[in-house]
Amino acid sequence: MNDRVKFEIGADQDNQELREQIDRHTAWSREEMLSGSWWHSIELTDGTITPGIHPLTELRDYYQRLQLPDDLSGTRLLDIGCWDGFYSFEAERRGASVVSVDCWRPDNFFKARQALGSACEFHELSVYDVSRDRLGRHDIVLFLGVLYHLRHPLLGLEQVCEVTGDFAVISSHIIDGFYNSLHPVMEFYEVDELGGQYDNWWGPNVDCLTRMIRAAGFARTELLHQEETRAIIKAWRNWDDRPHESTPSLEIVDIVNAASLDHVFPLSGRRAFISIRVKGLAPVASRDDVRVEIGGFGINPVYVGPWIGPYPDDQLQINAPIPPGLLPGPVEVRVWREDRESQTETIELQPGGRW
Ligand SMILES: C[S@@+](CC[C@H](N)C(=O)[O-])C[C@H]1O[C@@H](n2cnc3c(N)ncnc32)[C@H](O)[C@@H]1O
Repeated sequence: MNDRVKFEIGADQDNQELREQIDRHTAWSREEMLSGSWWHSIELTDGTITPGIHPLTELRDYYQRLQLPDDLSGTRLLDIGCWDGFYSFEAERRGASVVSVDCWRPDNFFKARQALGSACEFHELSVYDVSRDRLGRHDIVLFLGVLYHLRHPLLGLEQVCEVTGDFAVISSHIIDGFYNSLHPVMEFYEVDELGGQYDNWWGPNVDCLTRMIRAAGFARTELLHQEETRAIIKAWRNWDDRPHESTPSLEIVDIVNAASLDHVFPLSGRRAFISIRVKGLAPVASRDDVRVEIGGFGINPVYVGPWIGPYPDDQLQINAPIPPGLLPGPVEVRVWREDRESQTETIELQPGGRW
């Protein structure tokens, strides 16, 4: 067992604090280890199971529902809102290199990490402060049971998207079991209306949750599991249907900033939308079947239709946001629809603008 716990030194922590943390966390007796209130039941190396509110069988079933690969070797995984760390430690056991984040420092996470000899790296951060600059990009991001605790859920999802390389698995409380709606809607809890807890703010229906995930920058989603009040959604950053034509049969004629109509492209903020003029797209092309890829990430167009301007009828306009998580510099842009794709064009991203 690893009895020296590895601590992350944040910019605001000096060595004195680090030493105190190490002293504090290496001193746990077995009784201390299992004391306190646990959210997760975690099986420790000696077979002891921490006394979590959620039994181990339930958590293992729930882990299966995330449909992660059995072997996570070589995968970088970020667990945002890790609490006691069940999902972090389970992913690490399956080979992932894990970074765990929560907006406070749950003692139990450190107890379990010590007892398991785990190398999970912990950061005390709110999801709003999770960024590519701080944490880098991760192949898989888990964002389980956090969304409805956020006052600003779309902002939280954007930060999740920014640090996701391949896909995120997002679970949330949902309201489909209470209300039937044909519309994407979200219920607001001003105080403690949901479960008597004052830190529950929003209850989306599945349609709303799906659309928010896409609006945050993910290319596509799959509903992995739904019950009355809970859903799990897998959200990818890429399309899975690129045709790879040997000779592109669509032509990108020009790319401009959709707001300023010039060739200046801020990578974030309210002007971070591009407008692509394309020749060869069928007039029936729509937001649902046109794919846009910018800097290697798929993104949903917000507009596909006639170009407003003095251009030939055979050219359509596609407007799309710049996907979160790119850096300033050149990025490639391409589009496709069904079996036809465009050539690749390059635009130069500038540092971000303001919302
Ligand atoms: C319901 S628990 C879910 C824990 C674990 N992910 C799971 O699914 O069992 C919600 C977790 O989200 C964390 N959380 C709440 N607001 C957060 C925020 N703004 N940033 C990061 N974590 C947050 C809480 O501290 C808590 O650990």
